[in-house]
Amino acid sequence: MSIRVSLLLIACLFLQAQLHAQKFVANYDESKIPEFTLPNPLVTEAGEAVTTAKQWQETRRPEIVDLFQKHVYGRSPAACKISHKVVSTKDDAVSGKAIRREVDVFFGDTTDAHSMRLLIYTPKTDKPVAAFLGLNFQGNHSIESDPAISLGDRWVRDRRNETVKDNRATEKARGVASSRWPVEKIIDRGYGLVTIYYGDIDPDFDDGFKNGIHGAMADQTKDIPAAEKWGSIAAWSYGLSRALDYLENDAKVDGDRVAVFGHSRLGKTSLWAGASDERFKMVISNNSGCGGAALSRRAIGETVGRINTSFPHWFNANFKQYNQNENACPVDQHELIALIAPRAVYVASATGDQWADPKGELLAEIHAEPVFRLLGTDGFGVDGVATSKVAPDQPIKGGTIGYHLRTGGHDVTDFDWQQYLDFADRHLQ
Ligand code: GCU
Repeated sequence: MSIRVSLLLIACLFLQAQLHAQKFVANYDESKIPEFTLPNPLVTEAGEAVTTAKQWQETRRPEIVDLFQKHVYGRSPAACKISHKVVSTKDDAVSGKAIRREVDVFFGDTTDAHSMRLLIYTPKTDKPVAAFLGLNFQGNHSIESDPAISLGDRWVRDRRNETVKDNRATEKARGVASSRWPVEKIIDRGYGLVTIYYGDIDPDFDDGFKNGIHGAMADQTKDIPAAEKWGSIAAWSYGLSRALDYLENDAKVDGDRVAVFGHSRLGKTSLWAGASDERFKMVISNNSGCGGAALSRRAIGETVGRINTSFPHWFNANFKQYNQNENACPVDQHELIALIAPRAVYVASATGDQWADPKGELLAEIHAEPVFRLLGTDGFGVDGVATSKVAPDQPIKGGTIGYHLRTGGHDVTDFDWQQYLDFADRHLQ
């Protein structure tokens, strides 16, 4: 290498390091949003207009799934066989109204395979019930304070408080997330609730995809090109699909009536799970933002470049090409929502969560609506939904596409659950 080339290389590396070191400053000014054109979900990659449900289902839908696998979330292995073991049963949970079980589901047909623990609540009734399935952030023990729920022993993120010691949950973590999981209300409305600690499936840190099911299933993904391998969101979604495999054979839950639910990064996950697995009857995204319901091309609040830098393991390697270059990505998030059609989808935003771009989340649904209409649904159920017309705390929940902008911050509240339960009454009962 000549001296001149070496100097050039050093200068480039220096510049790159400088760019990295620069602190990300989020844009919140609508007038500074770059010009963009959204890809049309109803035009095939070959440029043909999609005018029938058959064309959507047979041509366009598989194309969009493939684009998301290739450019955003990564490709997951084929569904593995699962096995399970009941760990505990409590017949008088939730003031005697529910049965609560813990069931380990193994990613393989033997019980030495990697596992996740399902915490399952079902109302006391003879018939299988519709249920909500969602991942949780801090462990199953965090959703209710009952000490009979097993305390997870897997890696958890340090929260700089007494709920975590040496990256393991402590007794103090019991019930800490209960405000986000209104178990009794869900049971009273006749639904089951199934939750899993997301770290059981894949610990949420960048370790080069060695731990969790990434490592355990490395053999099944070895033929996938490196840049297209599954990221953590795809891995968590894969776990949700295997949980559904289990639920389809659980006598207390009706596997045909399962709503997949998630908040924030787990809302991104519920969308990808619902988009890639058509068995989920209903999909709920709570404050999912960038890489979830929000349009990437708006680049307002959290951007693709920022998310890929802070959380390099969430998406595949290809997605990094679109850092500060969102327009080049062949898909955008309205198409993720379109993949859920004709099934019911509910996106919730919060006024205090501009990082997640509430307006971009609603716009994604608006731009997905033509697909819902093509497939014979009523879309929002009302005409003329526009971002300028949606007032806080006024849910749109009468159609197949639901939306609300709650006042308050990035969280899951009783108000949110109230809407999800009402929406479920219309789509799952
Ligand atoms: C960060 C991240 C978001 C994510 C959120 C969460 O704020 O930037 O993309 O949704 O964490 O999952 O809590």
